[in-house]
Amino acid sequence: MSSLPRFPEGFLWGASTAAYQIEGAVAEDGRGPSIWDTFSHLEGRTKEGDTGDVAADHYHRWPEDVALLTELGANAYRFSIAWPRIQPSGSGPANPRGLDFYDRLVDALGERGITPLPTLFHWDLPQPLEDEGGWLNRQTAYQFAQYAALVADRLGDRVKLWITLNEPFIHMTLGYALGMHAPGRTLGLDALPVAHHQLLAHGLAAGELHDRGLGVLISNNCTPVRPASEAEHDLAAAAIYDALHNRLFNDPVLLGTYPDLSALGPEAYPSFVEDDDLKLIHAPLEGLGINYYTPSVVEYADPTGNDGLPFTLNEIEGVPTTAFGWPVVPDGLRELLVGLRSRYGSALPPIYITENGCSTSDVLTNDGRVHDTERIDFLTGHLGALREAMAAGVDVRGYLTWSLIDNFEWAEGYSQRFGLVYVDYPTQRRAPKDSFYWLRDEIAAQR
Ligand code: FCB
Repeated sequence: MSSLPRFPEGFLWGASTAAYQIEGAVAEDGRGPSIWDTFSHLEGRTKEGDTGDVAADHYHRWPEDVALLTELGANAYRFSIAWPRIQPSGSGPANPRGLDFYDRLVDALGERGITPLPTLFHWDLPQPLEDEGGWLNRQTAYQFAQYAALVADRLGDRVKLWITLNEPFIHMTLGYALGMHAPGRTLGLDALPVAHHQLLAHGLAAGELHDRGLGVLISNNCTPVRPASEAEHDLAAAAIYDALHNRLFNDPVLLGTYPDLSALGPEAYPSFVEDDDLKLIHAPLEGLGINYYTPSVVEYADPTGNDGLPFTLNEIEGVPTTAFGWPVVPDGLRELLVGLRSRYGSALPPIYITENGCSTSDVLTNDGRVHDTERIDFLTGHLGALREAMAAGVDVRGYLTWSLIDNFEWAEGYSQRFGLVYVDYPTQRRAPKDSFYWLRDEIAAQR
């Protein structure tokens, strides 16, 4: 018996992963180093010093992982392509062995009726590009477009929808402003050019993809923003947080404009925005990828002594939290989507939920099962909220949960398990969790 409402025919059901988090095989078949190889090998940057050197060994076990997708009944799979496998030094001709890997994967998915949804950049910048300034360097955007063209030339006959970037907000904030992720820079507000250069990269790559008749998405991490109170300074703080987290990445691609960030400083967009950049960034989109995890409650803070930021994020009280400590607020997904629809109106393309999920304290029991009831509750709640947003008029085409299998959770190493499938790292054995069987049955009931 199904516990979910009915979704439209043709709705995409699946799961997401990212290259550095699952592949391992970091020195195989000509792959070059990425910023995550460098960063994770630095002392004290990741929990327990974990690295993605082996990860879930997907590079060798991918047939097993495709079989899991088939068993799940997925008709879509979001994965990412490792730029350092395609261009080991960040530029120049494609490394054929790197392309071959994704070629085989795409073929295997096609044979099973699973729509491939590749992401071109999920944070694993080739280290040689970082050495030239990474996303602080405008040139990286042009390099990205060349890389996108190389991949599209090889896979574009079978892959029709492409995601340019994953969560440019999180990459800028954790990677360049706060130093918690690779490349580990602590620039604070001086990290803003990273937003613009990623968006420019998106726009230039969109041009390459469209030239080849292919569809384009970007996956943005979005959060519904709730002011801590109705007081004017809290409302203003919430507005600026919303501008930074959501609008900085949605407005340029959907409207061709930047939001007003003047509350953050006298010149939020100095010289790095050149003429015509916004025209490129405002390329048509065949879909908007939304990654949703949790809402943000925002309160005013005195910018002095707060890194110049006029806001602070409060805890959300009275709701369950995931193993990561993230509050579980399913209705936040409905609130977010309905809010996007009212903000952007007809400028909003069809939405694909490209990530949504939770980490749980999973234990592999003696019967070889993982009883992750919290994940089943999480998925039930969020899919219900998603369906409500759709009933309220938001055009949503698919739901890809994070993640297919347990994986390297960035600075948290292997301590956070987000998968539908448990990975026993010492043996690399995969054990589908209860949530896997639950989702399999729900997907089947929709058909
Ligand atoms: C998102 C990332 C993804 C994963 C989840 C938990 O921000 O895109 O790679 O780490 O969080």
